[in-house]
Amino acid sequence: MSDREDVWSIFHAVVSTGDTYAFAPDTSVAVAADYFVGSEMVAFVAEVDGRVVGMYKLIPNRRDLGAHVANASFMVHPEAAGRGIGRALGDHCLRQARVRGFAAMQFNFVVSTNTRGVALWQSLGFVVMATLPNAFRHQRHGLVDAYVMFRSLDDIVPVFGAARPDISPIARPSAYALIYDEQRRVAVVRAGGGILLPGGGIDDGETPEEAAVRESAEECALEIRVVGPRGRAVQFVHARETKDCFEKHSTFFEATPVSTRQGVIPDHSWQWLSPAAAQWALTYPSHRWALNT
Ligand SMILES: CC(C)(COP(=O)(O)OP(=O)(O)OC[C@H]1O[C@@H](n2cnc3c(N)ncnc32)[C@H](O)[C@@H]1OP(=O)(O)O)[C@@H](O)C(=O)NCCC(=O)NCCS
Repeated sequence: MSDREDVWSIFHAVVSTGDTYAFAPDTSVAVAADYFVGSEMVAFVAEVDGRVVGMYKLIPNRRDLGAHVANASFMVHPEAAGRGIGRALGDHCLRQARVRGFAAMQFNFVVSTNTRGVALWQSLGFVVMATLPNAFRHQRHGLVDAYVMFRSLDDIVPVFGAARPDISPIARPSAYALIYDEQRRVAVVRAGGGILLPGGGIDDGETPEEAAVRESAEECALEIRVVGPRGRAVQFVHARETKDCFEKHSTFFEATPVSTRQGVIPDHSWQWLSPAAAQWALTYPSHRWALNT
């Protein structure tokens, strides 16, 4: 079977029971395709032994001024249910939403009798914000309530890139500074690995903040004052020469320059860039993400 046929078979198997989605049990393949692979959405599938067994789509919950809140829909084939696929998809979806800059996620219509779905979303941090009385016509139970569920994504650490399956990545705690000057330009350094925010590996006994301050002094000869945290992210980096893969657990700080370290020569070439130029120039997606957060 092709992926497309697998996706249709899952959709059909899920809606035909009439107990979790508002789609009529005889919904057509055209409507299903429009729902799962329409425009302005990203969709992911879970595969087991080359066969698609589950899927989700991720879209903005509302247009324009409501577009920073995500919405997602999940379906796991009934034959594959209860094996952790829904949880893996949910976890992946939360990280993807954070990678894509969403601030929160909202489910508009979780059927209250869908105990597996409700338990899964609650265990992934969602809270029932409202109960819509008798909003769903359940195939077997008649009219039942539906829930609006919501969670902020502030605590979700996005992951950028991936390790190749044949390599065990080396964990590297790292810290970076988003240093802004008075014109709101941001400092970037040219390093072996590309164009990066000032920062790097955290030394033994150092806090992430101390590492960001030290690295900024070494790389740019700038004395900085940390204003506050700007998020955390994981970035996988493949070293060209050694073939090592580093899993950089990166902490970002916003900072302001206090002074230039007199007599110190920066050990990297660096410059101020407008946020738009830095967004274009920065090599790591996680650094571009931090700039936008
Ligand atoms: C809801 C759904 C996505 C969950 O996927 P799944 O692969 O079956 O779920 P998992 O195996 O990852 O289990 C997730 C959690 O569900 C709960 N759960 C599992 N089986 C359950 C059951 N029989 N009864 C109640 N809760 C159950 C548990 O809390 C479990 O967490 P655990 O990892 O701590 O055990 C899937 O069943 C599905 O597609 N259902 C039909 C469509 C649907 O309801 N979509 C969501 C609409 S809001």
